[in-house]
Amino acid sequence: MPRGKRQKELDRQRFRRLFSRMSHDKHQKFFDQLAAEWDLMFTAEDLELLAHIVDKLQVREGMDILDLGCGTGILFDMLRRKVDRNGSVTGVDFSIEMAEKAHRNFPFANVNVVDADATDLPFADSTFDMAVAFSAFPHFSNQQQAIDETHRILKPRARFYIVHLVSSRELSQLHHKIGGAVKHDEIPPEAKLRQMFDHSKFVDVVIDDHPGRYLASGVNSK
Ligand SMILES: C[S@@+](CC[C@H](N)C(=O)[O-])C[C@H]1O[C@@H](n2cnc3c(N)ncnc32)[C@H](O)[C@@H]1O
Repeated sequence: MPRGKRQKELDRQRFRRLFSRMSHDKHQKFFDQLAAEWDLMFTAEDLELLAHIVDKLQVREGMDILDLGCGTGILFDMLRRKVDRNGSVTGVDFSIEMAEKAHRNFPFANVNVVDADATDLPFADSTFDMAVAFSAFPHFSNQQQAIDETHRILKPRARFYIVHLVSSRELSQLHHKIGGAVKHDEIPPEAKLRQMFDHSKFVDVVIDDHPGRYLASGVNSK
């Protein structure tokens, strides 16, 4: 691409990023304020359940994994041990406080943290072998765009997982109780989520929505 055109494209991307950040301010501030105490929220039981779920994801040595809405990096240690030195874990979060804490918590060679929006990912097409959004997807203000972007940056046949330690119903109740920026954040109903995955060309969609656990996934069909 000629230099002038490339510069215009970069400006356009920067503007889009700034614009999307402005429109997401409510969530960014909300999570910025929670970052300092975030790690205290997890009980030993939560961590055991999470480790159990992560064991079921098809994580293999050498994989490059994207953790969307990584927060302070609660998944990093579980994932980085599985992918080992030849693989990597990249966390993305648009709360700078969360991203910085994640960076401080996990200063390992195979862990990267990027301050970015899940709806506008700063990665080339077909970069990752797997993407996981743990306790994050309902907060993405444009969920379809986040799925489209995840599809773009995943390699062919790579899987995208949406994980929660509660059912979709339990999660909506919890968000309603917390209120504020997350009051209306929810996992779309099954039929709607299937449509969204389908729109982005994910196939083999599996949705498991039970009290105490939510796991949805799709395979990139490109
Ligand atoms: C409930 S927290 C979960 C954090 C982490 N996955 C965990 O379970 O500890 C949701 C995270 O998603 C991030 N987030 C929300 N919307 C986002 C977006 N559009 N792009 C990137 N991160 C986002 C928030 O900043 C927050 O850190």
